[in-house]
Amino acid sequence: MNVKKGVRGHMEQLVITGQKTLSGEVFISGAKNAVVAVIPAAIMAKGKSVIENLPSIEDVTSLVDTLKNIGAKCEFTKDNALIIDSSEVNKYCATYESVKKIRASYYLMGAFLGRFKRAEVAMPGGCNFGTRPIDQHLRGFKALGADYTIQHGVVKLFAEKLVGCHIYLDMPSVGATINIMLAASMAEGTTIIENAAKEPHIVDTANFLNMLGAKVKGAGTDVIKITGVDELHGAEYMIIPDQIEAGTYMIAAAMTGGDVVVKNVIPKHMDPLSAKLQEMGCMIYEGDDSIRVVSTGNLNPTTVKTMAYPGFPTDLQPQMTALLCAANGTSILTENVWDNRFQYINELKRLGGHITVEGRVAVVEGVKQLMGAEVNATDLRAGAALVIAGLAAKGVTTIGNVKYIDRGYEKIEHKFQAIGADIRRVKTIS
Ligand code: EPU
Repeated sequence: MNVKKGVRGHMEQLVITGQKTLSGEVFISGAKNAVVAVIPAAIMAKGKSVIENLPSIEDVTSLVDTLKNIGAKCEFTKDNALIIDSSEVNKYCATYESVKKIRASYYLMGAFLGRFKRAEVAMPGGCNFGTRPIDQHLRGFKALGADYTIQHGVVKLFAEKLVGCHIYLDMPSVGATINIMLAASMAEGTTIIENAAKEPHIVDTANFLNMLGAKVKGAGTDVIKITGVDELHGAEYMIIPDQIEAGTYMIAAAMTGGDVVVKNVIPKHMDPLSAKLQEMGCMIYEGDDSIRVVSTGNLNPTTVKTMAYPGFPTDLQPQMTALLCAANGTSILTENVWDNRFQYINELKRLGGHITVEGRVAVVEGVKQLMGAEVNATDLRAGAALVIAGLAAKGVTTIGNVKYIDRGYEKIEHKFQAIGADIRRVKTIS
C-alpha cells in the first residue's frame, strides 16, 4: 500500500504471541507460481477456460485486473475457481501500473507474442532480491524470430511470424522456460528447449497448455519439445498444490515442536525438504496427498544448499534459516539461485538470531530462545520466515509490510490459527 505524504492510510501488521505448539491439519492452496503462468496462458486461447483450485492471493488479483484491462472477461466463482473468457482479447499491452506488483507479469510477453505476434509489457515488479534479469526470456523470443526494444521500461516485441527453434538456456530459468513454452506453442514448427527448468509449475503449465490444444512434451525433464499449433481453445484445469506454502507449514511445525498434517500436497514435491527435516530429527509420515510432520523441538544443525528443482528450493531458504536458528549447533546455508536473497537476515537478528552472511553463505548459530520484536517483511518468503520465527519466539512479534506475505499466502493468519498459533492481523493508522 502506498501511503502518500500527509494522507493517512491503513497499514496491516501480523501480531504473534509465540511459543504455542502447533498441531492439527492445514489445507494447502493452489500453487502461486503455477497459477501466475496458467492465467497468462489462458489468454492465448480464443475461448473460455476454468481454472480450479485457485489460490486467493494478491498476485492472482493483480493478474486478473490486468486481464480485464485487455478485454478478457474474468469471473471468480465461490468454489475457488476463475473463469477466463479470452474470446474478445484485442490488446497486447500491459502498463507499468498494472504489472508493477508482480514479477510473473513477464509471462504476458510470451502469451501476447504467441497469440498476437507482438507484445508491449512493462518490465516486471515483484520481490526485490538483487538483479533479476530476463535476458534468457528475450534470447528465446529472438530465437523464435521476434525483434525487441526496451524503451522507458517497456519491452516491445514484434514478429512477422514465430518459427520453431533450438535453444540452450544458460541456466535452468523457470521464467524463461515457461515464457518460451508459451510463445513456441503458437509458432510454426518445432522448438526444443535444452537445459530447461524442471520445477513442478513448469509441468503444470505444460499440462494446461496441452489441455488448450498445444503440443508440449518433456516438461519436468531438461529437454522440452514444443510443436506449434495455429489456434488454442479453452479448457478446464485444476492447479497443483503449492509446494512452497506446504513447505512453510512443515517448517513451522518443526520449529514449534509440533505435530501437523499438511493436506492437499504432492509428497514427491516435498522430498528435498522432508529429507532435511528428517536429518534435523523430525519424523515425517507421507500419505497419498498429505504429509505429517512430528517434531520434539530438539533439532540437529545441518547444511542446506539451494538448487533448481529437484534441489532444495530457494523459495524455502528464508523459512529454513528461521528454523536453523532453533537448532542445537551451527548450520551452513548456501544460496545458489539468487545473488542477494539474504536481506531479511537483519530482521531475524532483531528476533535474536545469530547469523553471519558472507556472500552467498549464511552461518546460522542456533540460539536457546528467539525473542519477540517488531520487524518488517522485506519480501514474500522473508515474511513467511519472520512468521515462523515469531511463532517460536518468546513474547510478542509484530510483522509489518504484510502486503508482501499476502502476495503469495492465502489467509495465512487463519491457517495458522487453525493449528493453534496465536496470530492476528491488525490495522494500524500511519
Ligand atoms: N536468470 C538470468 N537470466 C534470466 C532469467 C534468470 O540470469 O533471463 C537467473 C536469475 O538471476 C537467477 C536464476 O537465473 O539467478 C534463476 O531465475 P529464474 O528465472 O528461475 O527465476 P524466476 O522465473 O524469475 C521463479 C519463481 C521464484 C523463484 C525462482 C527460482 C515465479 C513467478 N517465480 O522466478 O519465486 O525464486 O523461480 O526457483 O515462478 C517466490 O515465489 O517467492 C519466488 C521468488
